Amino acid sequence: MAKRVLVLNGPNLNLLGTREPEIYGAHTLSDVEALCQQAGLDLGLGVDFRQSNHEGELVTWIQEARATADAIVINPAAYSHTSVAIHDALKAVGLPVAEVHLSNIHQREAFRHHSYVSAVAFGVICGFGVTGYRLALIALAEKLK
Ligand code: DQA
Repeated sequence: MAKRVLVLNGPNLNLLGTREPEIYGAHTLSDVEALCQQAGLDLGLGVDFRQSNHEGELVTWIQEARATADAIVINPAAYSHTSVAIHDALKAVGLPVAEVHLSNIHQREAFRHHSYVSAVAFGVICGFGVTGYRLALIALAEKLK
């Protein structure tokens, strides 16, 4: 059976395409979903793509992934830098996690340099724009073999 990957997106990523395009690019979240679904087809992975502006909803989805997914790609957006709850949920679930950021967070404000998610991710990809999602799915497909 095809392995399933939950692709999670945090707050404000619903605004992609219009939000600070000089930083985040011109692609919309629908474009990112289409890219992930195509990568899933290419790699033989089932992709469940979601976005929420609510920390608790993301935590609930991560908890549910224990029963419904084999791995998680997450762009936690601003919650990367604040959320012990998302860190704890990812740790509790124990699935392989690939953390993605569109921008190079290390090139930006100091408050973006630390991510609570990185410590529970097996890899972190940042600065490659939407291609980062494809790279994360490629890495997870390898990991799940
Ligand atoms: C982001 C980087 C975060 O610092 C920011 O809060 C975001 C998006 C990125 O994809 O580059 O919302 O995760």
